[in-house]
Amino acid sequence: MKIAVYAGSFDPVTNGHVDIALRALKIFDKVIVAVLRNSSKTPVFTIDERVAMLKKTFESEPCIEVDSFDGLLSDYVKKTGAAAVIRGIRSSTDFEQEMKMDMANKKLNNEFETVLLTSRAEHVYLSSGLVKEIAAYGGDISEMLPKQIIEHVLEKFGRNK
Ligand code: PNS
Repeated sequence: MKIAVYAGSFDPVTNGHVDIALRALKIFDKVIVAVLRNSSKTPVFTIDERVAMLKKTFESEPCIEVDSFDGLLSDYVKKTGAAAVIRGIRSSTDFEQEMKMDMANKKLNNEFETVLLTSRAEHVYLSSGLVKEIAAYGGDISEMLPKQIIEHVLEKFGRNK
């Protein structure tokens, strides 16, 4: 069974992330969506909230597992037995960053590959950061997030009616 780890902050998961995870499933038998616990970023949503939102989003996808991890991604990948890490890229800036991350990961553990999936055109603008900013100012985020989590995100920003 070929396993891939789709790692990230998912603060919160967006339609862009969902698309990448589902497309990764066309290449791999199982995709583990793994949320980093010890991020240097300050998240808006707690780790439990992010994991719960991902679980809700993917509840009808038996080949997608949701997990969280601490420490180095390369150690987590080894533990899961995954063959690859999935990352989505929207631009050449993303590509540069991901290439460096892959190089660092290969120094640490040369036994897995990084598979970069390019974003769909309609998701190129989309990021968790942008969604949070729009939600904070009361803008419409309904086309940007999985429907299962919209209420929770609006609630977080005090925007649920
Ligand atoms: O969604 P993000 O914030 O772009 O995800 C970044 C993530 C979690 C994939 C990356 O920060 C990560 O792998 N962190 C774990 C720490 C690590 O392994 N660092 C060394 C390799 S860059």
